Amino acid sequence: MTLAGKRVLLIVTGGIAAFKALELIRLLRKSGCAVTCVLTKGGAQFVTPLSLQALSEHHVYTDLFSLTDESEMGHIQLSRSADLVVVAPASADILAKMAAGLADDLASTLLLATDKRVLVAPAMNVRMWSHPATTANMATLAARGVAVIGPDEGAMACNEFGAGRLSEPPAILAAIEALLAGPKPLAGRHALVTSGPTHEPIDPVRYIANRSSGKQGHAIAAALAGLGARVTLVSGPVALPDPAGVTVVRIETAAQMLAACQAALPADIAVFAAAVADWRMAHATDRKMKKTPGGAPPALELTPNPDILATIAAPGPGRPGLVVGFAAETHDLRHHAEDKRRRKGADWIIANDVNPATGIMGGTENQIHLVSAAGIEDWPRLAKDDVAARLAIRIADALQ
Ligand code: CTP
Repeated sequence: MTLAGKRVLLIVTGGIAAFKALELIRLLRKSGCAVTCVLTKGGAQFVTPLSLQALSEHHVYTDLFSLTDESEMGHIQLSRSADLVVVAPASADILAKMAAGLADDLASTLLLATDKRVLVAPAMNVRMWSHPATTANMATLAARGVAVIGPDEGAMACNEFGAGRLSEPPAILAAIEALLAGPKPLAGRHALVTSGPTHEPIDPVRYIANRSSGKQGHAIAAALAGLGARVTLVSGPVALPDPAGVTVVRIETAAQMLAACQAALPADIAVFAAAVADWRMAHATDRKMKKTPGGAPPALELTPNPDILATIAAPGPGRPGLVVGFAAETHDLRHHAEDKRRRKGADWIIANDVNPATGIMGGTENQIHLVSAAGIEDWPRLAKDDVAARLAIRIADALQ
């Protein structure tokens, strides 16, 4: 999910886990969120204002009574200009101050003055966490609607074991996303996505394949799920983890991919990002092909595979509302992409240049051209995750 346009006020308090706040800031910035940091005196023992400032690209606030800070932005305004206030790590001390309503430094004053939701990510020694005072403070905060993530259980910096470790930054990011999520534009929609290569057997040990990594298709499945769609990802063999919240159907051949796609219908959206082998063996053998000394190499007789995109895009009652195909081209990209769109019956074609010089095939970036009946849009070169996020938003807009 993207947090583009959202603003988080991040309060970093004292604790060995304060270094993880740096990774959290990086993740928030990557998802498009603006981050303003407040560093307590305790927090400054573990991380410097300069590190927070460099990562957040924003002034870092430390003092309650600072002439320079106050002239720039008063603490009341600071506590209200964000969409969410996050305390990570949240020490036992700040949790006690919040529960008691104390306001004796900038962080506690902001927390008392804010009218926004607050998320705390506690981190402390296991005995401090399980102390009845902390338990009572957490109960008070929960009753006031303060959201909590963690702490995790595990080995601690103080050589003890138990609950008290700060949650990992990706988990804190997910909690922030859940709190900031607006209505999800693809909720109630079903999206079918194909991804990766197909493997077409020659015999039981050999197969025809291609260099597709599946990165773009998997990223699109994740981005559509992030916008609330129920996603079925039909994937050829890839070395990628399953995207969270997505139903993954693993197949090897084009015939299996087509069958899995048909079984997944009906769908509102279908995105065909797989690099399907165009041909398979006309007569695949279930016995390993053997060399005969001095014999001629075998002639591999091929037969065309079904075109999955064209089959699913064919007009009819089961056709998905929006069908998106890909065109991997090495030359005359625009011409071939438009031709492919018409020939295969897709609504959109995402054309990309897979000339080896671009490094796109198997790489982490992509530069695409969105070809539709309305014309051709040229997108800048972006990380494949960003292409996916942008495409998912375009798809959601198109279905409005
Ligand atoms: N595709 C498909 N089934 C196939 C072949 C391709 O669903 N058997 C889909 C791909 O997933 C992609 C689009 O069709 O969305 C374009 O695939 P591409 O391989 O670029 O085009 P081809 O039809 O193979 O045309 P050409 O070989 O001329 O590039």
